[in-house]
Amino acid sequence: TQQVAVKRPQLHFTAKKNWINDPNGLFFDGEQYHLYFQHNPHGVGHGFMSWGHAVSTDLVNWEELPIAILHGDMADIFSGSIVVDHENTSGFGDGTVAPVVAIYTAAAKDETNQSQAIAYSLDGGITFTKYEQNPVLDRGSKDFRDPKVIRYESEQGSFWVMVAVEAIDRRVMIYRSENLKDWTELSSFGPQAAVAGIWECPDLFQLPVAGTDQLKWVLIVSLNPGGVAGGSGTQYFIGEFNGTTFTPDETQETWDSFGYESLKQGDWLDWGRDFYAGVSFHGLPLDEQTLIAWMSNWDYARDLPHDGWRGSMSAARRLDLVKDSNGKFDIRQRILGLPKADVASSKANAGENRIELGSPALVELTFATSPIEPAVLSLFRADDTLISELTVESELIQHRREAGKVDHELYASNQRMPLPVGSDELDVKVLVDHGSIEILAAGGRRSLTDQLTGEAALAYATLRVATGANASFKVQELFDNALES
Ligand code: FRU
Repeated sequence: TQQVAVKRPQLHFTAKKNWINDPNGLFFDGEQYHLYFQHNPHGVGHGFMSWGHAVSTDLVNWEELPIAILHGDMADIFSGSIVVDHENTSGFGDGTVAPVVAIYTAAAKDETNQSQAIAYSLDGGITFTKYEQNPVLDRGSKDFRDPKVIRYESEQGSFWVMVAVEAIDRRVMIYRSENLKDWTELSSFGPQAAVAGIWECPDLFQLPVAGTDQLKWVLIVSLNPGGVAGGSGTQYFIGEFNGTTFTPDETQETWDSFGYESLKQGDWLDWGRDFYAGVSFHGLPLDEQTLIAWMSNWDYARDLPHDGWRGSMSAARRLDLVKDSNGKFDIRQRILGLPKADVASSKANAGENRIELGSPALVELTFATSPIEPAVLSLFRADDTLISELTVESELIQHRREAGKVDHELYASNQRMPLPVGSDELDVKVLVDHGSIEILAAGGRRSLTDQLTGEAALAYATLRVATGANASFKVQELFDNALES
């Protein structure tokens, strides 16, 4: 693909140059959020995978730092996680600071083996030393990857728990360690629910149930292809983890099928095309659990137009759980770090309402009752090119328009998302930035994330509704607060 002028997003992390994919090693050190990411230091394609690094205090403005963990001659550094080893269980500490320990997949370049390796940092996550006795966990597998390590705390004591995938088997492997070096297999989960693609990038964490003091365990599983919107997607399971085994509240059949119609009964963290490999931060309290995903899709990630840099992260999402009227849990997402500004709110008129806005911007639609006839929000560039069209009815449909700049048959598509039934008021929050749209509906219980090509600088929107009385909209222009343009 050729190089074209791509406008950088303002509220989303992009690397200064070259390729990025999954977020890795997310952690909060008490002052700063650390985002590591799959990065090719040498080009705009996937290769020479290393961990890039950026830090932020607000999850919006990111400062990119030097590469944290560089690929080797024989192996790439694939996805993984970071923990701060406060009790120095690993022995990597020098008695003054808690070691920051990265657990990643060493992926043999000749594709004969993937095993888990560790590296430690004594300067707060800036530079890492690879452990001399790597790998620490080798199953002799070619597709064993993406270790996410958490601290499991119980009355019987605390220990490290790792979830990682046997990708081809559609299994999440669960391991335990006292010191991050020696790992014992506890159990495995899967295959279950969507299995048409391989499983990648698992995460296991607790979430509070809003309005109660209940906590539930959540297992996140990315899969590719076989996602609900096509290609890469992310499903989740809610249940219990007892320190050994994850047991979902509902055991599900496996779905070998592709596509929205067969997969819409499932639990999807996002219903769009571009929300993959999402993982949560280590080091945040349970009521501040936060997740970032890679805002792309393996269907076309390698073919998107680029401007010397390629790929971006989603906005950071704060997560909790809510119970619906049938007693089923939904993950609820809230976008974090948006600048606060006064917003004007107006009632919509029947027919067409014109809304002036630029990007980035946040548009909030509120319907007193779910619209019976479709409400349509259309986003335009200054030259009147239609970029995206959003239809809200019993389900929400995001039509990705103006896909001509992306020379890929899989790029132009419509994404659909069922809305929760039986809810009276319906709110739809739409965050647009250069190159993306993130839609959170029904109080954040439904999420749909799509790239809109990097050219898509927005100028205005129209909202068409059948009856005005039912609908209102708010617009918040978000500051152009990029560190560099
Ligand atoms: C997910 C993934 C991971 C792997 C990494 C390699 O997007 O395929 O399974 O560790 O990307 O870059």
